[in-house]
Amino acid sequence: MINKIKTLLEEVKEWKAADAAGLETLRIGYLGKKGEISQLMNDFRDVAAEHKRETGLYLNRLKETAQQKIKELKDALDESVATPNDVDLTRTAYPQPLGTRHPISTVKKEICDIFGRLGFSIAEGPEIEDDWHVFSSLNFAEDHPARDMQDTFFIRHDPEILLRTHTSSVQTRVMEKQQPPIRIICPGRVYRNEAISYRAHCFFHQVEALYVDKDVSFADLKQALLFFSKELFGATTKIRLRPSYFPFTEPSAEMDISCNLCSGKGCPFCKHTGWVEILGCGMVHPNVLDNCGIDSRIYSGYALGMGIERITNLKYQVTDLRLFSENDIRFLQQFESAN
Ligand code: DAH
Repeated sequence: MINKIKTLLEEVKEWKAADAAGLETLRIGYLGKKGEISQLMNDFRDVAAEHKRETGLYLNRLKETAQQKIKELKDALDESVATPNDVDLTRTAYPQPLGTRHPISTVKKEICDIFGRLGFSIAEGPEIEDDWHVFSSLNFAEDHPARDMQDTFFIRHDPEILLRTHTSSVQTRVMEKQQPPIRIICPGRVYRNEAISYRAHCFFHQVEALYVDKDVSFADLKQALLFFSKELFGATTKIRLRPSYFPFTEPSAEMDISCNLCSGKGCPFCKHTGWVEILGCGMVHPNVLDNCGIDSRIYSGYALGMGIERITNLKYQVTDLRLFSENDIRFLQQFESAN
């Protein structure tokens, strides 16, 4: 029996396993219930008493060596899985697709940053609003035709709860709580009951700016607009103001910038006028200040509002508004370098 054990001991030392399955075959073949070593353990009972001691020592050595060898082979296999020999660790990594900021978020941040440099801080308000904050406080009379300018999603009547149609509602929210000086920029999503097409959507994004203090004048507004336009569209950008009407500003204006596609020469994008409209603005109507508890005899202010989608279209020539909300990765990936 001792000779048999010695032979097996030599075999065990030579064990090799190419993979986990090979190792398991070895284990079962030797240490399994009917394996060679287990068989010897059974036969040990019949060994003559005077040989028991020596045989026992050999048998134990065989069993321990086999177990030790199995463990070594297993460790070696695990290690080779973790760092296969054929992996070149110095090779350049595979390109990993990176998530990117949504173009609307990129432009929103850019707009807020520019106004941030003028001392404006960000203010936000709720998307579900009441009539007071969206219309009445902003000088829309009860039966004023201006209310028809915006098709509203109403959630409840009496009292009227609705989805805000513009971010001007944040003006009221801030002015009700805070006395001037007020210098805020309010980005947010707004809703209008429009049929969805390439040029209209039932939700979109706006940025509103409001500055109220003593002696704020139209000249201050114009200077802020010029600074903003040059920062966003480039130093050669020109602006022009056209008289307009909003119930919450007096006087009111719409601002055009020189078309940044044709540098003002005229192209299909600007309908050959050389100008494109980008925002509405004006001096805050005294009624709005008074409605919010700010004395219009002491304070004055300017406000402006613009659509982020429109600005993004101008910057990146996106021709279909729906792309902004469809989350098509092929569209979004094109803005990787814009971040
Ligand atoms: N709230 C206007 C709109 O949704 C945009 C606007 C125009 C905002 C003039 C203003 C402003 O603050 O002064 O069409």
